[in-house]
Amino acid sequence: MNNTHLPKILAIDTSCDDTSVAILEGDKVLSSIVSSQNDIHREWGGVVPSLAKRAHQEYIQPCIQIALKRAKIKNIKQLQAIAVTYGPGLAPSLEVGIFQAKQLSLENNLPLIPVNHMEGHLLSPLLKNSKGNYYSKIITTTLPWLVLVVSGGHTEIVWCKKIGTYEVLGRTLDDAAGEAFDKVARMLDLGYPGGVVISHLSKQGNPEQYKLPRPMSTSNNYDFSFSGLKTACLYQTNDLKQQLGDQFADIIPDYCASLQEAIVDSLLIKFKRVLKKRKPKTALVGGGVSANLRLRKKFRQTLKKYNIPIYFPYQKFCMDNAAMIGLAAFHKYKRNEIYTTAEDINKVDRIPNLTY
Ligand code: KG4
Ligand code: ZN
Repeated sequence: MNNTHLPKILAIDTSCDDTSVAILEGDKVLSSIVSSQNDIHREWGGVVPSLAKRAHQEYIQPCIQIALKRAKIKNIKQLQAIAVTYGPGLAPSLEVGIFQAKQLSLENNLPLIPVNHMEGHLLSPLLKNSKGNYYSKIITTTLPWLVLVVSGGHTEIVWCKKIGTYEVLGRTLDDAAGEAFDKVARMLDLGYPGGVVISHLSKQGNPEQYKLPRPMSTSNNYDFSFSGLKTACLYQTNDLKQQLGDQFADIIPDYCASLQEAIVDSLLIKFKRVLKKRKPKTALVGGGVSANLRLRKKFRQTLKKYNIPIYFPYQKFCMDNAAMIGLAAFHKYKRNEIYTTAEDINKVDRIPNLTY
């Protein structure tokens, strides 16, 4: 496939609380629209599935129209395929995107490409802008890759020998790293999404002020556990609130910085454990938590010592977006992993707990 024949793919992601549509030409992002539902879910302190579904139904059509317009696509038939996230995610949310993608595919006689949301996050550092340049200054992405995928619902370390073939080396046994940020933020009444608020407040805080556990750091595997950290925070903040009364508010930046440090260290400890056994040529980090600047700094410093290049997504592609789904779909298109008959397209269904 040479550059003049790169497929144009419209991708949809409605896996959780953001309605996203993107158009890619190969691995180049022509347009990427994300309609955030944060304002809807903020007052509940987390995503309410029935509200998310209703908002997706309302926003999906406008998002598609804007994405086409920004990509200067006048007619959907100019596209080569439709891609959609089919899992993992919230069932009522996934349904909306899948229904829409099937309709577009059948009405316009275009192949349908179902994509695993986690594969999208995993590949997201490799998105290119419409000029064909990486958003970040990527020099080489030689395989095999060692990838950390850290989102609100998942935390996993993945070994990738070739694109499309993934070996999960370790994953969280309970809460995901993003979930730990979100739950502690809720405990402290800081708002939603918690990771964004906590990382912001941490800038003014001392990461060594409060002692918090690095769960499972000594266990001889690559798995994570964040629920113990959350419980430790619950007890510690209750004690501190009792001791400090109204002055509790003053220690929030230090507390946030200490929590952020504990989460980043827990991730780094397991990543380093893998590096002692396996030698990747490139390291990648994707998912909402990869937006965290402290995480980026500590991972960069460590990987430098191992002489392994490490890449993160451009900030706007850390959180959920459809551009990353389009990129995973492009690779599937190249491998001919597409659905073309009405019978096969109609069979595509949501898999809320999809794995690789
Ligand atoms: O990947 P994502 O958008 O959604 C899922 O697929 O789950 O990740 C959302 C998660 C939330 O838990 C949010 O708190 C976290 O990413 N997050 C961050 C930051 N920005 C978003 N966590 C830490 N630091 C950040 N800067
Ligand atoms: Zn996600």
